Order: sequence, then C-alpha cells, then structure tokens
Amino acid sequence: MHAADHPSPVPPLVRVEGLAMAYGDKLVQRDLTFDVRRGEVLAIVGGSGCGKSTLLRHLIGLLEPAAGVVRYVDADGSAHELVDASPSMEALLRRRFGVMFQAGALWSSMTVGENVMLPLELFGPKRSTAAQRAERARACLAMVGLEPQFDAEPSSLSGGQRKRASIARALALDPPLLYLDEPSAGLDPITSAQLDELIITLRDANQRSVVLVSHELESIFAVADRVLFLDAERKTMTALDAPLVLLESGPPEVRRFLKRTLPAAHRDEVPA
Ligand SMILES: Nc1ncnc2c1ncn2[C@@H]1O[C@H](COP(=O)(O)OP(=O)(O)OP(=O)(O)O)[C@@H](O)[C@H]1O
Ligand SMILES: [Mg+2]
Repeated sequence: MHAADHPSPVPPLVRVEGLAMAYGDKLVQRDLTFDVRRGEVLAIVGGSGCGKSTLLRHLIGLLEPAAGVVRYVDADGSAHELVDASPSMEALLRRRFGVMFQAGALWSSMTVGENVMLPLELFGPKRSTAAQRAERARACLAMVGLEPQFDAEPSSLSGGQRKRASIARALALDPPLLYLDEPSAGLDPITSAQLDELIITLRDANQRSVVLVSHELESIFAVADRVLFLDAERKTMTALDAPLVLLESGPPEVRRFLKRTLPAAHRDEVPA
C-alpha cells in the first residue's frame, strides 16, 4: 500500500464502496471502492468505453448502482446517499457539486451569461435578484477568463471557450466539488494547458476537489493528485495512486498506459 492510499484524517467529500454499474444486463464496472478527498484532483482514466462517463453519472446520482453505494460525506463524517435522499436532502447534496458533461453542451438559445445564470435560477438561493445572479455569473466567467463573452451567443465561441463557459456554469453555485468529463479533449495543446492551469487554480486557490475524466495523460501528469484506473477488460479498477507512483510501480498495463504518453525525453528515466 502506498502513502496515497492511507485514509486521510479529514473525512472525504465522497465515499464509493463496492460500486457495480450496469446498463440492463450489461455490466460496465464492478467492485469500485474509492474516496474523493477534499482539495484533490482525482483523474479517472481508462480506455474508451471502460465506463468513465458512466461512473460520473453514478457519482452525480443520475444512475442507480447495480450494487454498492455512493455517499456524500459531511464535515462531521455523516454520510448520505444521493439516490435515496429525501427531496430536501437531495437539493442540499446537489449543491455540493458542479458538472461539466462530456459534450459540454451550452444552450444555444441563450447567451453565455444566461447559460451560467441558469443553475442559479434553478437551484440558487430563492431570494436572489436577477442583478445578483448576473453578478455571480460574471464572476464565474471571470474565473475562466471569459467575462467579455457574457453577452455572446455560444455559437460564436471557440471549442476551448465553450469548455471554459461550461466550467463557469458548473461553478455557478460555488460547489466544493467539480466533475469534468474530458475538459481538454479536442483542444490544441496551448488551450489545453490553460485549462490545466485553471483546474490547478480551482484546487489551490479555492480548495475545491476536481474529479476529472481524461484520456490526455499529459494533462493528467500536470494536474492529478491521484489517478483511478478503470480496466475495460477486467471491468474493475486496477489502480489508484499518484500518477508518478503508478508510473514507477503500478500494475504493468497501467505503467504501459501511462508511459506511452510521456514525452519521449522522459521515457528512459522510468524503470521498465
Ligand atoms: N445509455 C447507455 N445505454 C447502454 N449502454 C451504454 C449507455 N451509455 C454507455 N453505454 C455503454 O457502457 C460502456 C461505458 O460507456 P461510457 O460512456 O461510460 O465509457 P467511457 O469510458 O466514458 O468512454 P469514452 O472514453 O469513449 O468517453 C460502453 O460499453 C457503452 O457502450
Ligand atoms: Mg466518456
């Protein structure tokens, strides 16, 4: 067991135990047990179709586990399941996270600012005024460097700007946890590096936790505190640790996966 596996004294934000996920009879993954710690970037990694997006859907309570539980944990350690929470508890739990889905879809019939204000209108403080919501939306857009685009149509944004606008929308309710599904997929390396910086800022300046699905291992080495590796063939997790630890002493297939994407200059430094 590595240092990164030891339970931390502070309760985690989310505790996943024995989770199995299936669509009908089709098992996607089973025996998933891990925490999302406070203030960490946890990357979910694995081949296409292994179940990364499906895992996010379970974490946010959109899908019910075939087995096992996903619990949101309070600072005092008490834990709540999203899928069988009372409506009032569910509303509280939902405010603990923001989500950027893989498609990163913004509503094209609304401006960028209106998109970011939407969660505030739907789930925000009941007595907030339109001016307060607009101010909050501007602050979120400023965090991702998009304040000037407040009144823009989503269709006028670049791919990277759209992803950032989706992140601003996920930040609207100021959640302690963000779920980002493939934030840097399809972006050029510079835009992708800017997104990595944003993720690090969200963690370090705001003490947020970020759960990040990614294929982009360069970006994982840059931002992730820990990597959860889902194996498509074995249909379970095969590793959970800091990326450099996995690179040096993870299971062989995980080392191969991580090594493949290292810049060529560093490949020789890693023991086989
Ligand atoms: N709504 C659905 N109904 C049935 N099967 C689904 C559904 N969504 C996904 N699947 C299947 O579940 C498995 C996991 O899909 P998922 O989208 O979670 O993979 P992923 O790891 O996110 O892949 P990618 O890296 O390509 O985004 C795949 O075999 C997929 O075909
Ligand atoms: Mg996916």
